[in-house]
Amino acid sequence: MSESVTVVDHPLVQHKLALLRDKRTGSKDFRELMAEVSMLMAYEATRDLELQEVTVETPVSPARVRILAGKKLALVAILRAGLVMVDGILRLIPAAKVGHIGLYRDPKSLNPVEYYAKLPEDIGFRRTFLTDPMLATGGSAVKAIDILKAHGAGQIKLMNIIAAPEGIERVQKAHPDVEIVVGAIDERLNEKGYIVPGLGDAGDRIYGTK
Ligand code: PRP
Ligand code: URA
Repeated sequence: MSESVTVVDHPLVQHKLALLRDKRTGSKDFRELMAEVSMLMAYEATRDLELQEVTVETPVSPARVRILAGKKLALVAILRAGLVMVDGILRLIPAAKVGHIGLYRDPKSLNPVEYYAKLPEDIGFRRTFLTDPMLATGGSAVKAIDILKAHGAGQIKLMNIIAAPEGIERVQKAHPDVEIVVGAIDERLNEKGYIVPGLGDAGDRIYGTK
């Protein structure tokens, strides 16, 4: 696997992923698990954030400490399913600005259809984390990254809970500068464009729409 893909194989992520895959897991638990996995993945995805040294006064003495420096962060959700991931990551990084890109996949052509985009005005000055639990054909992710770049975003990481090899390849071809952070890489897509074994339709399982 190319260097631009990181698989977060931490035991807690893998355990929660097993529960997410299980079809008996209902919407309430599914949402909570998605948020928790996203938080744990964010720990890895933010590993390369820059730090700067400052001094604080402890009750005992001055201490040289390290705090986050450099560019601010933006979290951008691909609607609908990416929203739960952003909610989880915000628990860790509450100061991040949040953007939304509305896309749905046409069930016949599997092509993404755009219906909404609202992004932080200064996204060009932020490190951007784009979230969507599922990277299947890669059409939605490529389109969302196109939109981010058209709004000036530069340093983009794509975060997916489960990815298909086909989707990874498509994103890497279209946007070789984008790093991808995933919880698992599955076997393949089926004839309907669903990830196998995957976890089914993420949006429907989060919101109970089917
Ligand atoms: C799902 C998923 C991704 C997309 C992945 O969304 O959340 O956005 O499919 O498929 P792709 O890689 O083949 O583009 P969906 O289109 O079902 O929309 P929804 O979240 O609104 O249900
Ligand atoms: N979208 C989903 O929600 N699940 C898949 O397996 C593929 C696309």
